[in-house]
Amino acid sequence: MKIARLHGFKDICYPETEKLRLVESSITDVFKRFGFSEITIPILELSGVYSTGLGDTTDIVQKEMYTFETKGGEWVSMRPEGTAGVVRAFIENSLYRKSPVTKLYYSGEMFRYEKPQEGRQRSFNQIGAELFGSRDPLADSDIIAMLWLAITELGLSDHVKLELNSIGKPLERERYKESLIEFLSPKKDSLCENCQNRLSTNPLRILDCKTGACREVTSDIPFSIHDHLSEQSREHLDALLFSLREKSIPYRLNHRIVRGLDYYTDTVFEVTTDKLGSQNAVAAGGRYDLLVERMGGPQTPAVGFAMGVERIMLLLEKTGTRRNSPGKKQIVCVIHIGENARGVAVKIADGLRKKGLRVETEYENKSLKSQMRKANRTGATYSVIIGEDELRKDLFSLRNMKTGEEKSFPLKKLADLEGHGDFRKLL
Ligand code: HAM
Repeated sequence: MKIARLHGFKDICYPETEKLRLVESSITDVFKRFGFSEITIPILELSGVYSTGLGDTTDIVQKEMYTFETKGGEWVSMRPEGTAGVVRAFIENSLYRKSPVTKLYYSGEMFRYEKPQEGRQRSFNQIGAELFGSRDPLADSDIIAMLWLAITELGLSDHVKLELNSIGKPLERERYKESLIEFLSPKKDSLCENCQNRLSTNPLRILDCKTGACREVTSDIPFSIHDHLSEQSREHLDALLFSLREKSIPYRLNHRIVRGLDYYTDTVFEVTTDKLGSQNAVAAGGRYDLLVERMGGPQTPAVGFAMGVERIMLLLEKTGTRRNSPGKKQIVCVIHIGENARGVAVKIADGLRKKGLRVETEYENKSLKSQMRKANRTGATYSVIIGEDELRKDLFSLRNMKTGEEKSFPLKKLADLEGHGDFRKLL
């Protein structure tokens, strides 16, 4: 039997794991500032959660879910995204009773049986946020502002663009679909195979197809969704755009953005980059005012988005954005020379860890040279050295690993250290 990971799945090893967690905490820190709290939802749900939530005609439900029958005869699917599961949980736990507005965020692995390529995996991580209970365009604006701040704090705002659109309500969209079908049917043969099928199942998706042929056919459509928007949808969009301008959030209105999930109403948006090839969306979302009810809950407007963590990490790497590179500067190596110094080194390491520092030590008695090599390898910025000499005089030596400078200090000074910053004051 071949023991290998599944095609399109990925292991994440150190230091990538550290980068992943840093990216996550940088993002969730912003979410918390906007009053969002965490929810965890199962990776496996009844398949109906997704077919009802995302829509039967979506690519995800039709082609991309990992679905199987359990021993008990239930059809279940691995989550392809977070929104449907969060809505299910929102309803099942009656969260709508607890407060008029509920703000939730989640993170974790999602699964889609897509063709793997750079930036597209079959298992990938998302961090998402969902706001329930407000129909106000200011809620859309807040959600987008939160996404934009998360992107900005990652140092990526110069490398991405925010594009948005309104796709109106289902009725408005139906009228638009009809016009699209009428316009595109005579040109059906020029569309890619996928879009030829979409013409009857999901014609809106033809607008965001990336193949050259479809782009050409759709480039001269003489109308847009905006021609079909109701007064109410138009006002919603105008108020959102006004608010984004007030907040100085740079956006571009793009009527081609339709999104691949059925639950959206009115606002839809994407954050894209030109640095990741065709898998250019690092985050996406929109408003979904009908989904809670469609899934059996009370009428509850909602708006949210999800960020693709691997794509964000790829973008950080490609753009050389170092803000969130692993916290190696936090590492201190405690080096001991000789058996007697080992016990003292263990205590020092323990004390420094309690002060919040990341500390590396050597378990065995190894030479100074070998321990120095290790300190360099782990990326330590300081080494605390306890040798026989230091032990006799109740001292420790501190070495700045970058400059090579070394000085001795009384051992009790370590106890007074407030944190990593204090090392910098010493050397
Ligand atoms: P989505 O556009 O399907 O939306 O996914 C959101 C983000 O997840 C994408 O922009 C992308 O960064 C990442 N992503 C999607 N598929 C893959 C893949 N195969 N490999 C790597 N990254 C991927 C949703 O999932 C909605 N639930 C967003 C939402 C939340 N709308 C409202 N609330």
